[in-house]
Amino acid sequence: MNASLPKVVITDFINDSLAIEKKVLDGIATVEAFDAFNEQSLHGQIESARAVMLYHNLSLSEATISRLTNCDLIVRCGVGFDNVDHRYARQRGIPVANVPDYGTEEVADSAIGMALSLTRGIHFYNQRMRSQPDPWMYNVSQPLYRHRGRVFGIVGLGRIGTATARRALAMGMKVRFYDPLKPDGYDKANGVERVESLQELMKESFILSMHCPLNEDSQHLINSETLKWLPRGSYLVNTARGDVVDTTAIPEALASGQLAGAAIDVLAEEPPRENHPLLAAWRDPEHPAFERLIINPHSAFYCEEGLQDMRRKGAEACRRALTGERLRNVIN
Ligand code: NAI
Repeated sequence: MNASLPKVVITDFINDSLAIEKKVLDGIATVEAFDAFNEQSLHGQIESARAVMLYHNLSLSEATISRLTNCDLIVRCGVGFDNVDHRYARQRGIPVANVPDYGTEEVADSAIGMALSLTRGIHFYNQRMRSQPDPWMYNVSQPLYRHRGRVFGIVGLGRIGTATARRALAMGMKVRFYDPLKPDGYDKANGVERVESLQELMKESFILSMHCPLNEDSQHLINSETLKWLPRGSYLVNTARGDVVDTTAIPEALASGQLAGAAIDVLAEEPPRENHPLLAAWRDPEHPAFERLIINPHSAFYCEEGLQDMRRKGAEACRRALTGERLRNVIN
C-alpha cells in the first residue's frame, strides 16, 4: 500500500480482495474496505478518505459526513440514495453521485417476473401442489385473466419504470404511468399513456408496479386507503423501496380479495425483524398470503455482471473525482 496516495474507503457490503476497485484506481488511490453494518463503527477509520464508496448495509448521516475532512466525493454504489444525507453533504461541499444503471434491466425483469408468477398462477400452483397435491387441475387457481388489453400501471417512469413498461408492452398490455416529475413527451416516445394522479392510475390497473424513489412524497403512497382505488382482484409489485408501500395493509388486502396477489422485493426494515406482520402472514399456511404473496430479500438488482458493473462504475466515479475529470451522476 502506498501511503502517499489518497485513500478511497468502501464502507460496507464488499469484503473480498478488492481486485475490481484496485484495478480502476491503480496508481491513483489506495482502497480500504470495512464491511461495516453501522456508521458508528466507521468512526476513526474514514475521516481522511478522499472518496467514500457506500453500499446499502448502513446509512451515512450528518454525524459521519461532518467528520470527513478532505473528501472529494461520496459514491452511493447503487441507485437509491435515501441512505445518505446528501443535503448535508451538499452544505459541506461534498458531491454525492450514484451508480444509476448497473441493474436497470434486472430490476425490470424481476418486476415482470414477479408479476407473471402471480398473474399466471405460477407461484400459487407451485405452493398449492406441494402442500395439497390433489386435484391436479388448472382450476385450483381460478380465476386467472388474459394480460392483453389490461392495464399495467407504473408509478415512476424513470430508467427501471421505462424498462418495465417496454416489457409489459411486449405482453400486449396497455401501459399507463404516474410520474409528476417527468417532463411531457416520454409517453409519446415510449408508447405509454400518462395519467395525472395516482388515483387515476390505480383505478384501472390490473398490475401496479412501483418504480419511484423513496422521498418525502412517496412514503406510504400505497396504504390501506389507496389500495381501495385498485380494481378488486388486482396485483401489486414493489421493487422500489420498502417504505413506498405500507406493508401492514397487504395481509388484509389479500385476505379480502382486494389484492389477488402481491410481490415484495423491498421492506422498510431490512433484514426484517422476526415478528414482522407481513412475514407472519406469509408464513401462515392458513392465511391467503401463504399462496398469494411473494417476498424476496431485496434481490431484484442482482446478477453477477451487474455486481461487477456496480463496483467498477463506483470506482470509476472515484477515479474521476481524484483526477479532476468532470463528475457524472451527481445527485446533490
Ligand atoms: P430513476 O430516477 O430513473 O426513476 C425514478 C422515477 O420516479 C423518476 O422518473 C421520478 O420522476 C419518479 N418519481 C419520483 N418521485 C415520485 C413520486 N412521488 N411519484 C411518482 N413518481 C415519482 O430511478 P430508477 O433507476 O428507475 O430506480 C427507481 C428506484 O428503484 C430507485 O429509486 C430505487 O429505490 C429502486 N431500486 C431498487 C432495486 C432493487 O434491487 N429492488 C435496485 C435498483 C433500484
